[in-house]
Amino acid sequence: MCGIIGIASNKPVSINIINSLKKLEYRGYDSAGLATLNQNEINEKKCSGRVEELEKILFKNPSDGNLGIGHVRWATHGIPNQINAHPHSSEIVSVVHNGIIENSDELKKNLELKGSKFKSQTDTEVITLLITDELKKNNPVKSVFNTLKQLKGSFALGIIFKSYQNIIIGARRGSPLAVGYSKDENYLGSDSYALKSMTNKISYLDDGDLCVLSKDKIDFYNNEEKKINKKVYTLSDDENISDKGDYKNFMSKEIFEQPITAKNCINEYIDSLKKDINIYNFPVKPEDMNKIVLIGCGTAFHSCLIAKYWFEELTNIEVEIDIASEFRYRKLKFNSKNLYIFVSQSGETADTAAALDICKKNNMKTCSIVNAVESTIARNSDWVLPIHAGPEIGVASTKAFLGQMIVLFILSLKLAKIRKDIDLPSYDKHIKNLKVLPIAIEKCLKTENKVQSMAKEFLDAKGSMFLGRGLSYPIALEGALKLKELSYLHAEGYPAGEMKHGPLALIEEGLPVIVIAPKDKYFEKTLSNMQEVIARGGKILFISDHKKELIDENIRFSIKVPSLDKLLSPILLTVPIQLLAYHVAILKNCDIDKPRNLAKSVTVE
Ligand code: F6R
Repeated sequence: MCGIIGIASNKPVSINIINSLKKLEYRGYDSAGLATLNQNEINEKKCSGRVEELEKILFKNPSDGNLGIGHVRWATHGIPNQINAHPHSSEIVSVVHNGIIENSDELKKNLELKGSKFKSQTDTEVITLLITDELKKNNPVKSVFNTLKQLKGSFALGIIFKSYQNIIIGARRGSPLAVGYSKDENYLGSDSYALKSMTNKISYLDDGDLCVLSKDKIDFYNNEEKKINKKVYTLSDDENISDKGDYKNFMSKEIFEQPITAKNCINEYIDSLKKDINIYNFPVKPEDMNKIVLIGCGTAFHSCLIAKYWFEELTNIEVEIDIASEFRYRKLKFNSKNLYIFVSQSGETADTAAALDICKKNNMKTCSIVNAVESTIARNSDWVLPIHAGPEIGVASTKAFLGQMIVLFILSLKLAKIRKDIDLPSYDKHIKNLKVLPIAIEKCLKTENKVQSMAKEFLDAKGSMFLGRGLSYPIALEGALKLKELSYLHAEGYPAGEMKHGPLALIEEGLPVIVIAPKDKYFEKTLSNMQEVIARGGKILFISDHKKELIDENIRFSIKVPSLDKLLSPILLTVPIQLLAYHVAILKNCDIDKPRNLAKSVTVE
């Protein structure tokens, strides 16, 4: 996590650094800082808290200089205070860093033995002091290369030098880094999104690369210190839609955008004329496919879990799912007829990217389902299926989750058709249902007022529980995750049938229990599990596509979503649980777009 920006220009850069840092705040918001070069001095300013605070400091005391670096932090080593904020500067060099230096303790001891003094508790400061030492005998590029050789871990760096007024050096190992090109100005950034307001011409550093930026050129080197060329990408305009509009925050905008997200995604993949799915060139021949392995983290993992039910229901292929941080360290049995699918909104999640690397090293065929198509995960996969959701800024994933589910459903349907695991009338019926899905999602959004009333039930709650079976079980997990991350209220998601094996002990008078029960083959069973909760005093909040009259009088609130094909129910049931987490967080006055301790793009292990 953490966000890096660097600008080399022929005019003052601090305002543009601040504006770019605001865009990078989704990566971390514990502290912020910048350093510019002016009249042979490194001018460093930093603070704990948000970029807004840094902006106030600059307003009172501006930073001049046509070249500079900036940073927003998600704390790993050392508490989020001003001293630990980046940049970390010595007399002659200033560094911003994203990632973790795993051998920082050892490097620190060696430096201290040589007389170096540390100001902060961070791992980053070792980089500053190592480069400072190297600069006594080498030029900046050689000094950085020599320093990189001593570092273990994953990182992206931005570095400026007091005695080299016109260059910024960037380096990447593991954590993402992009550069942008413009007239008389060049940029370094953790992602292309931060650079978009300044340029649409972007290149990406690969692992081990180093770049040297000045206002009128960028040179690239690979890890063998040889000069290399980089492909220049032109970013599409549609990804520039990153304004809150009339919404109070990005999350509500992103929730309410979901009918459009669904429509765009479905239009991309469904050929209306042929009534068929536009997915071709499978890296593993569908007829020969042995197994599908779906991998992701957090919310993206929940979409993998839902997809497991879909692939199993629609195809005869064996399916396995895994959390990326577990997958990457397991002893795995690979098979060249397996398809490995990586699901990620950002395409930069460190664990998911590492899991993908392991598959590639073992010559497996890989597919990524991503929102950010220029991301590391997308670039490293054999096959990419974008979700076309547009930028997702709110830290809690909403529309991207919906997009992931739609792409995974469409993929399972296409595979089923090619393999003849599904008959044509059923296939056509599913395509028809997909076409009306955006309207059904629109109707789900109309539950907002009711959900808002339901949210009040959580204000005095000690905790809460989300229950579902089958396809609603992952939605229960997702509901609990959303509530936890946004409202800081403890929540558990469980398969309803598991309650009696332990969690039932948590039920006490008035505990909010959200029962997610569409009228599918599990409906009656879920109702029985619900009765067990009612008998122990749990307060039931019921979400279903079924008519209210049939439901128990002990239900405190019930929310009805439209009834569509049972396989699509998780997509519709997701909307009220997103709204619920959102409204509980609003009532508790929490920061909706930037929940505490979190960041949008998790580029550290
Ligand atoms: C929760 C959330 C996270 C992400 C997870 C993976 O609302 O957003 O759990 O889903 O960090 O991120 P991506 O999808 O970018 O790989």
